[in-house]
Amino acid sequence: MSERRPDVLNKAFEFQAADDARKAGVYPYFKPFDYNDGPESVIDGKRVTMFGSNNYLGLTTHPKVREAAVAAIARFGTSMTGSRFVNGSMKLHGEFEEKIASFYGRESALVFTTGYQVNLALGSAILGAEDSVAVVDRSVHASIYDGVRLGQAAGGRMVRFRHNSAVSLDRALSKLKPTESALVMTDGVFSAEGDIAKLDELVPVIKKHGARLFVDDAHAFGVIGPRGLGTAHYFGLEDDVDLIGGTFSKSLASVGGYLVGERKVLDYIQHFAPSFMFAASGAPSCIAAAMAAFDVMQEEPWRIDKLRENYTYMRDELSGMGFELSDTESAVIPIYIRDDARTLEFWRTLLEDYSVYTNPFISPGVLPRRSLLRTSYMATHERKHLDRGLEALRSVGKHLGVI
Ligand SMILES: Cc1ncc(COP(=O)(O)O)c(C=O)c1O
Repeated sequence: MSERRPDVLNKAFEFQAADDARKAGVYPYFKPFDYNDGPESVIDGKRVTMFGSNNYLGLTTHPKVREAAVAAIARFGTSMTGSRFVNGSMKLHGEFEEKIASFYGRESALVFTTGYQVNLALGSAILGAEDSVAVVDRSVHASIYDGVRLGQAAGGRMVRFRHNSAVSLDRALSKLKPTESALVMTDGVFSAEGDIAKLDELVPVIKKHGARLFVDDAHAFGVIGPRGLGTAHYFGLEDDVDLIGGTFSKSLASVGGYLVGERKVLDYIQHFAPSFMFAASGAPSCIAAAMAAFDVMQEEPWRIDKLRENYTYMRDELSGMGFELSDTESAVIPIYIRDDARTLEFWRTLLEDYSVYTNPFISPGVLPRRSLLRTSYMATHERKHLDRGLEALRSVGKHLGVI
């Protein structure tokens, strides 16, 4: 007779929250889009104003980007069906790595299949040793935490510092043993709150303690800094950031990720990071699309200016209406609601009654008292889109007593 033991799947059978929300008509996830092609998208046949996309430069439908993806499929097929390490690298990956490195003025770049895998790679290759400590801003993206966990499983350690606090970082670094080495890890633009890592305050502390610095610029590339170069360049501190990570899935209108830094460091990572070595490489069409978007971003600098004009307009208008916002200085503008149920109601009413698409962030993703509606903007939003959204936000905000 088989031994009686608890069922490992029980947690799934007992999970009720999603079914409850579906029944109540407030389930906000996995919404199937018919088209998600710009400032207006289509969901269930209904045209909505899009305030919930990371298509910051509006390049997912740019003719040059589309054509590059189609041409890559025609020429190279649909997939390399193998990892960069063994049988999935193409000249295209190498060509893009050279372009990225030269744009940043860095020695090397490494192209990954996703941005998520960049952070897993850092964790396993750089932090997976007993003397290695990840010193992490509390508000970093989940992928950084997941990467750090891989490092912890191999003997590394994690300590966290208060969000964007150089004082707290100084305290954390002061407590390390002299034999421990440290990598400070932060988002450049924080993905939920849209504020910028205060590198001007963090860098002197990092230097004082002889630590290294990694900045994840997923939401900063194409958004802040000269020519969209991101957070390090925004502060003129590009020589003080050791590693910069990024994604193709936001401003670059594709799927994939990259890391820039010194050649020896990236060479080590490409030989010691399972998320890089043992996952299929980015499909030729994805790499070609991101490369084309990368070129368009440089050929059409008005996009970065227009994006800034749009998010500045929205931030000023929303705060003028009385909404509580974060210290955002980017295309991500969160509106604090500070109550899960009200956040979901706000999201649902905006979508169903006003055809405005936003993203609710509720617990357990954030603490219930920090629940918020995340809005985000594009270079291709016209004033009419923004004003339509503002009117909807004002009406629903008043109706629900948020303003
Ligand atoms: C800060 C940050 N890092 C990494 C990622 C992961 O990037 P990707 O979508 O390329 O896997 C994201 C995506 O949401 C992100 O916001």
